[in-house]
Amino acid sequence: MRPIPESVSKTFYIETFGCQMNVHDSEKVRGLLEQRGYSRVKSADEAGLVLYNTCSIRDKAERKVFARLSQIKRRSAGKTVGVLGCVAQHNGAEIFERAPHVDFVCGSASYNALPGILDRVEAGESRVAGLELDTDETFDVPRVDRVRAYTAYITIIEGCDKACTYCVVPFTRGPERSRSSASVMREAAHLQELGYTEITLLGQTVNSYSDPSPAGWSFARLLDEIGRLPRIRRVRFTTSHPSDFTPDIVEAIDRNESLCDWVHLPVQSGSTSVLRAMRRTYSRDDYMRCVAMIKAAARRIELSTDIIVGFPGETESDFQQTLGLLDEVEYASVFSFKYSARKGTVAAGMPQIPEAVKGRRLIELQQRQREIQIRRNAELIGRTEEVLVEGWRKRFGQWIGRTTQNRVLNFADPEGLATGRDLRGTYCQARVTAAGPNSLVGELASPSARAAFQGLRVLQ
Ligand code: SAH
Ligand code: SF4
Ligand code: F3S
Repeated sequence: MRPIPESVSKTFYIETFGCQMNVHDSEKVRGLLEQRGYSRVKSADEAGLVLYNTCSIRDKAERKVFARLSQIKRRSAGKTVGVLGCVAQHNGAEIFERAPHVDFVCGSASYNALPGILDRVEAGESRVAGLELDTDETFDVPRVDRVRAYTAYITIIEGCDKACTYCVVPFTRGPERSRSSASVMREAAHLQELGYTEITLLGQTVNSYSDPSPAGWSFARLLDEIGRLPRIRRVRFTTSHPSDFTPDIVEAIDRNESLCDWVHLPVQSGSTSVLRAMRRTYSRDDYMRCVAMIKAAARRIELSTDIIVGFPGETESDFQQTLGLLDEVEYASVFSFKYSARKGTVAAGMPQIPEAVKGRRLIELQQRQREIQIRRNAELIGRTEEVLVEGWRKRFGQWIGRTTQNRVLNFADPEGLATGRDLRGTYCQARVTAAGPNSLVGELASPSARAAFQGLRVLQ
C-alpha cells in the first residue's frame, strides 16, 4: 500500500489514444472524476492521478502506450498511474509485469467497475484490475466533461459482434450492446439544452444499432428523431458497417436536412477474396451496391473509408483491385493502414506479407487517393458552403469550419477581425477560393443569423 499525498491526490491528468470512442470515454471518465472531487490539470507532472486511455488497434499504437508508461516511470513517485481502454482490456494484468509502477488497469469493456476501482485506489491499494467483459451494461455516467462546446458525441452502441479476422476490437470492447432509444434521446435533448447544435452518434458498427427497449426503434428512426430536435442542426454517425447499411438510412437522410451529407463506410479492401479472408461479410459487389444506393440519394452524400493494405495473402492483383475501387468510388477521404498482426486474432496465424511490400502499397494507395482529392476538391472552388466554425488558426488568421460533407473549410473574416467578432460555434456561409488535398480555403460570405443574434464575443 502506498498513501497518496493529500496535496496532489485530487488532481488528475488524462491522455487519450485511439478512436473517437476512446475520446468520448475519456470525456466520461473526466466527468466521473470531477464528480468525485478531482480537478483536471494540464500535465502529468502536476497531477496526483495520471491516466492513459489506450488503443491497441495496431502494434504501433500499443507500443506508444508502453513508451509513455516508461517515460512516466521516472516521474511517478507519489503519483497514482492508471491504464484504461483497449490495451488494458487486451493485455490485462500483464501490464503490471511490464510496467510495475502502474497502480490499476480498467478495460474499455469494464468501465462500470471504475468507481469501485477508484475506491480501492483511493484507499491506497495498488495493482487493482477491472477486466470483466461486461456483457449487458453500457458506460453511462451522469456527468460528461466534453472537450468541445458546440459538437458532442453520444455513444449509442458499444462493443462489436462482427469477427473480422485482423481486429482486436471484439476482445477489447466486448460484445455488442445498444442503449435504449429513450436513454439516447434524453442525452440528445440534454445536449440541445446545453447549446450543442451538432451531435455525432458513435459505435464501432453504429448502424447495427438495435433498440433493446419495447419501443424497438431502428437506427434510421433514431437518426430521424434526433435530427428533428429543433435546435440540433447537424447529426453525424460513425462507423457504419457496409453489411448493415440499409436503404432506410438513406431515406432518413433524404427526408431530414439535419442529417449530414457524409457517411464513413470502411471497405478495407477492393478484392472479394481478401474481404472473405478478412471475414468482412460482404463482397466487392455488395459494397459497390451499397455505394450506389448512397450515391442515389437526393443530396450528394460524400463517402470516406478505411483501407488495410498488406493483409495476409493479398496479391498484387488484389491490391490493384483496391486501387481501382478508389477510382470508382471517389472518396472524399481515406484512412489507410498497413496490416498489423494482433495477438489472439485469426489473421495473425496466416502467412504474412513482407513489411517492404506493405510499405510500398501504402504509399501507392495514398498517392492515388491524394490525386483524387486534389481533383475533387478543386471542383468545389467558387461554391458557397455552410460551415460550423470549430476554431481559430491564429497563425493563418483563419477560422476553421467544417461542411456538412465533413470537409474542412478554413476562411478569413477581415471585416469581422476589425471588430473582434468570434464566430466559433456559429454556422456561416463561406465561399471556396482555393483547394488542397485535405482542406479547402475560402472567404466569409455571410455569418449566420444565429451568430448575429447571439451577440458575438470578442476574440482572445
Ligand atoms: N469498426 C470499424 C473500424 C474499427 S478500427 C469497422 O468495422 O470498420 C478502425 C480501422 O482500423 C479499421 O477500419 C481498419 O481499417 C483498421 N484496422 C483494424 N485492425 C487493424 C489491423 N490489425 N491492422 C491494420 N489496420 C487495422
Ligand atoms: Fe473490428 Fe470488424 Fe468489429 Fe470493425 S466490424 S470493430 S473491424 S471486428
Ligand atoms: Fe483503438 Fe480501441 Fe478504438 S483499439 S481504435 S481505441 S476501439
